[in-house]
Amino acid sequence: MFENLAALEPDPILGLMSAYRADPRTEKIDLGVGVYRDETGATPIMAAVRDAEQRRFENEQTKSYIGPPGTEEFNVAVRTMIFGQQLGAVRDGRIAGVQTPGGCGALRVAAELIGRARKGATVWVSTPTWANHVPLLGDAGLQIREYPYYDKATSSLDAGAMLAALAKVPAGDFVLLHGCCHNPSGVDLQMAHWEAIADLAVQRGFTPFIDFAYQGLGAGMEEDAAGLRVIAQACPETIVASSYSKNFGLYRERVGALQIISPNVEQSRIVQSQLGSVVRGIYSMPPAHGAAIVEIITNDEALNAQWLEELTTMRERINGLRALLADRLSAETGRDFSFIREQRGMFSFLGITAAQVHQLRNEYSIYIVDSSRINVAGVNESNIDYFVTAMGNILHA
Ligand code: LMR
Repeated sequence: MFENLAALEPDPILGLMSAYRADPRTEKIDLGVGVYRDETGATPIMAAVRDAEQRRFENEQTKSYIGPPGTEEFNVAVRTMIFGQQLGAVRDGRIAGVQTPGGCGALRVAAELIGRARKGATVWVSTPTWANHVPLLGDAGLQIREYPYYDKATSSLDAGAMLAALAKVPAGDFVLLHGCCHNPSGVDLQMAHWEAIADLAVQRGFTPFIDFAYQGLGAGMEEDAAGLRVIAQACPETIVASSYSKNFGLYRERVGALQIISPNVEQSRIVQSQLGSVVRGIYSMPPAHGAAIVEIITNDEALNAQWLEELTTMRERINGLRALLADRLSAETGRDFSFIREQRGMFSFLGITAAQVHQLRNEYSIYIVDSSRINVAGVNESNIDYFVTAMGNILHA
């Protein structure tokens, strides 16, 4: 039956995890998959998460189904986290939402919903974008087109080219934006760009579709949501897919959410019913545990404060590493790596060739994605010298 299928290469990001584990050399560095790491290289369970799990363990009453949309408490908690209390759509009750298995689940449910509304609709993604956006959206039948974003020559945003391309997006298309901490480039939109995109979306009639996987890891919980809120305020329709893998460290629990703003309450009710049906047709309903942890933490003042403090530590560690890497790499290689300091979130491109990426892997057991994307959080005091020296060696070779 399946003999006409071909074996596939490992996933460009997840494949690195197994290659790293299988590497027998003791001196090795994993700068591949986007998981936060502390100074010891571990991805610890946050203390607030542990406390919330303990509470849940003591208080949970049932393992019965939670239903396709997930729990109302979770959906309200994340809606507030994303949009705040003041947004018109929140006050008017124009937001439909479901709890999803991770941010990937949210992206896929959104894609399926879009396909129901407009078969073969087009989604515009940034060049580059997260490698998994294309299969997540494309396998649901959506057409993918690209708009310019990252300028390799300057390691920064090509705002002119981006806005010129978005000014030509036809009505009825969707434009995927990264809410903060752009994956893979680390180059974020500034407020003026968000405002310009909001204007274009309204003028042209395209729908902004925001992937929001790193809230709190760029500049802060509120700061990271500011651009997205401009869009949500200005546009009659907006889609937001969010993830709680990174900011709550709940990766394997698969916690995400999808929010869809509609122009009116009646439309929003229709969207809510369609979302439930999409979910039922794919995985029936989401897992409960991770979402319950997010809900417990956000609804408890003390736990919330503890979690915010831990998140701040993570963000400050990443931003401190950015400054350190910018200085150390520039000094060692003679190239200008100051852009790493300016960028946000877990990722930046080193701007080296795929051959040099492979050289790092083969000769030094340093694992980064072929595009030269590094996970900044994988650097620490005990591996930075080795990493910087290896970079110097390959660039001077
Ligand atoms: C990443 O970009 O490394 C993360 O979002 C993990 C993944 O699923 O690719």
